[in-house]
Amino acid sequence: MRPYVIVNAAMSADGKLSTIQRRQVKISGQQDFARVDRLKSSCDAVMVGIGTVLADDPSLTVKSDECKKRRRERGTDEHPVRVVVDSTARIPLDASILHKSPGKRVVAVSARADQKRVAALRSLATVIVAGEEEVDLVRLLDELGALGISRLMVEGGGTIIAGLVSAGLVDEIYTFIGNIIIGGKDAPTLADGPGFLDEAEFCRLTLLEVRRMESGVLLHWSVNK
Ligand SMILES: NC(=O)c1ccc[n+]([C@@H]2O[C@H](COP(=O)([O-])OP(=O)(O)OC[C@H]3O[C@@H](n4cnc5c(N)ncnc54)[C@H](OP(=O)(O)O)[C@@H]3O)[C@@H](O)[C@H]2O)c1
Repeated sequence: MRPYVIVNAAMSADGKLSTIQRRQVKISGQQDFARVDRLKSSCDAVMVGIGTVLADDPSLTVKSDECKKRRRERGTDEHPVRVVVDSTARIPLDASILHKSPGKRVVAVSARADQKRVAALRSLATVIVAGEEEVDLVRLLDELGALGISRLMVEGGGTIIAGLVSAGLVDEIYTFIGNIIIGGKDAPTLADGPGFLDEAEFCRLTLLEVRRMESGVLLHWSVNK
C-alpha cells in the first residue's frame, strides 16, 4: 500500500522557501524546529529531492534525544528511512544524508542513471529504479510501501513537492510562514515545476489548523481527494 504523505515546509511571508541562489535561510525558530523534529520522528521515512541535497546537504536525522528514545522504545531505528529522489544519481557519495548517523537510506533513480554511479551508491543505500527519464513517483511510493513505509514525510524542495502534488500523492501539508520577505521571482516556492494551467486541475485543500507560533504562523492543511 502507498504511504500516507505529509509535506512540511517553511516559507517567507512572500512564499519563498529559500533565496534565488537556492541558499538555505532560517525562516522559523526553535519551537517550529522541535515540531518538525517530532513530525519526522512520527514517520517511517523522510524524503527530499536531489535539489535539496545539493543545495543544503541535510542529514534528515531526528535531533531530539527524547524523540530518538521513543522511537527505540517503539522498536524502530532512531532515524526514519531517508529517501532521495535523484533521476541521474547525481548525489555526491559523501553527502551527509548517506553517512550521518546509522539508519536505512533509499536513493530513487530512473533508468537513465549512470550504471557506475548506481553501483557505487548500492554500497551506501538501497537503490530503487523507477521511471525512464525522471523518477516515477507513483511507482516509487508503491515500492516504499512494499518496504513497509506507511507514513512518509516530505521535506522539499518545491520541485519534488510539485511532482507529488500533481500526481495526487500528498495527503497533508504543514506550512510555517515566517516574518521575512526573501523576494526574487525565481526563488523556490512550495510547488514549483510547470504549474497547473487549468483551474479544474488545481490542488484543493482544507484548512485544519492555524496556529500562531513565535513570530509567524503555522498552517495545517489536508488535501481534498
Ligand atoms: N524552506 C524549506 O522548508 C525548504 C525545504 C527543503 C528545501 N528547501 C530549498 O529548496 C531548494 C531546492 O528545491 P528544488 O526545487 O531545487 O529541488 P528538490 O525539489 O529538492 O529536487 C528536485 C529534483 O528532484 C528530481 N526529480 C526526480 N524525479 C522527479 C519528479 N518525478 N518530480 C520532481 N522532481 C524530480 C529532479 O532532478 P533530477 O532530474 O536530477 O532527478 C528535480 O530537479 C533549496 O534552495 C532548498 O534550500 C527549502
